[in-house]
Amino acid sequence: MPNTSSDPVSVEWWRAAVIYQVYPRSFADASGDGVGDLPGITSRLEHLADLGVDAVWLSPFYRSPQNDAGYDVSDYCDVDPLLGTLDDADALIRRAHELGLRVVVDVVPNHSSSEHKWFQEALAAGPGAPERDRYIFREGRGLDGAKPPNNWLSMFGGPAWTRITEADGTPGPWYLHLFDTTQPDFDWTNPWVADRFDEILRFWFDRGADGFRIDVAHGLAKAPGLPDVDVDPLRTGGEWADDDHPYWSRDEVHDIWRRWRRVAEEYDGDRALVAEAWVRPLNKMALWVRPDELHQAFNFGYLMATWDAAELRAVIDDSLAAFGGVGAPSTWVLSNHDTVRHPFRLSLKEPLPHGIGIGPNSPDRPDEAPALARGRAATLVMLALPGSAYVYQGEELGLPEAIDIPDDARQDPTFFSTPDGVYGRDGCRVPLPWEPDAPAFGFSPTGKSWLPQPASWAEYAAAAQLGVEGSTLEMYKSALTVRREHGLGTGNIAWNESIDDVLDFTVSDVRVVVNMSDEEIPLPHAEVLLASGPITDALPHDTTVWLRA
Ligand code: GLC
Repeated sequence: MPNTSSDPVSVEWWRAAVIYQVYPRSFADASGDGVGDLPGITSRLEHLADLGVDAVWLSPFYRSPQNDAGYDVSDYCDVDPLLGTLDDADALIRRAHELGLRVVVDVVPNHSSSEHKWFQEALAAGPGAPERDRYIFREGRGLDGAKPPNNWLSMFGGPAWTRITEADGTPGPWYLHLFDTTQPDFDWTNPWVADRFDEILRFWFDRGADGFRIDVAHGLAKAPGLPDVDVDPLRTGGEWADDDHPYWSRDEVHDIWRRWRRVAEEYDGDRALVAEAWVRPLNKMALWVRPDELHQAFNFGYLMATWDAAELRAVIDDSLAAFGGVGAPSTWVLSNHDTVRHPFRLSLKEPLPHGIGIGPNSPDRPDEAPALARGRAATLVMLALPGSAYVYQGEELGLPEAIDIPDDARQDPTFFSTPDGVYGRDGCRVPLPWEPDAPAFGFSPTGKSWLPQPASWAEYAAAAQLGVEGSTLEMYKSALTVRREHGLGTGNIAWNESIDDVLDFTVSDVRVVVNMSDEEIPLPHAEVLLASGPITDALPHDTTVWLRA
């Protein structure tokens, strides 16, 4: 796709792009089976073009038994029949390009599904066969090998190891899975694995993909000898581990990204590689986006920041310094398919670890209206910041986290792998409401929905907000227009003096004032370009305003 940017500063489109995450199972369902699909996405792409985003990132739509909603891939070069066909993928990419939208696809290189033929071949080939070296098989501990090889735990709960039974019925070795038992980890020290992934990248680049979002981009390298670790992922913030960890954020992983960068550079049109890397501090995360590695990394430091002026200012400064230090743009992200939707997350009394959600029995249940006000204020901070921003489907509608999902409707493996049924990520994955009065609010023609939609979502439907002054959808559209017209994504930030609990900064010719205190504050005299909520001559609590500087 040719570079359509008219802004000479952003020659590389991804530097200031607003990228919209589509979670295919929950965006739009054309087939009527209650699970979103590729034809459904294609039919709704105009919504994204009208919204004014630059690119779409699609979470996995590959063949998969769907034990982790598609992040368990059984064929990286085919589409899951539940979601469509390869022709549907081609049609989607073509239509997106016609509308001026780039397409970023997800790739899952840390693990495959246990149903992938590579894993099935490894099982069938038997002990000592080279096929076994594609994955991480190890003998168990204890006299009869009945204990897992080490104490690593799965991100979804329980041990990170599962023992196999050999074809002759004898108990065999164990295989590593940092996630679900059906997601065996690849052994990236085996060049065979690296070669296969080069082919997968080329397969999708050849079909027109403008980039890849790389799943678990901090997890592929494991310490030699696989030493024990002394942490429980569910109690320590999960993947976001500190230094010297036997599987997160190891130095060896960078060689893989240098190799992938070379593959991306075989192609024209600024193909972009985006890391999902839960690495901290930010200046360590920045190593993932050095000039010969990936192009962007999701800024999880920003996503995890609480609604606190000093904390937010610090993380913004640290981000710009860290990413700027290696010549990469910072990214900004508030919501995705793994975290409580940001209006609710920012309103929790106690922050939750990544991947953990809220449900019917959670004591901390924010109220919808104040949470939305805060969420909108946070959005107008994010979209003003220099760099690239990620918008998760439904946040442009102001969707609340779906809390009251009954136990028997839950889908996230976390709920089933933890002894007390820890609420996982279902609440942010509920299918989108498009029309207030249609079956499944227009998500599916039959009214089916793989996760139940709250009855109150009629008022959040896209059609109910379109053209309605003050609606969240119109606020996002206006924000993206002003962002483009004023070059916010490519500007520099200057902090203005402010009182405690107020953020006040200027980017390009836009002054952004955020009132995070409990009281209203006087509104500076200037032309109002946009506000996240009603304002008078005062700026209410939890409100952001964009003023002409
Ligand atoms: C990433 C994905 C998450 C998935 C996990 C395992 O964190 O965002 O949804 O469960 O990787 O692939």
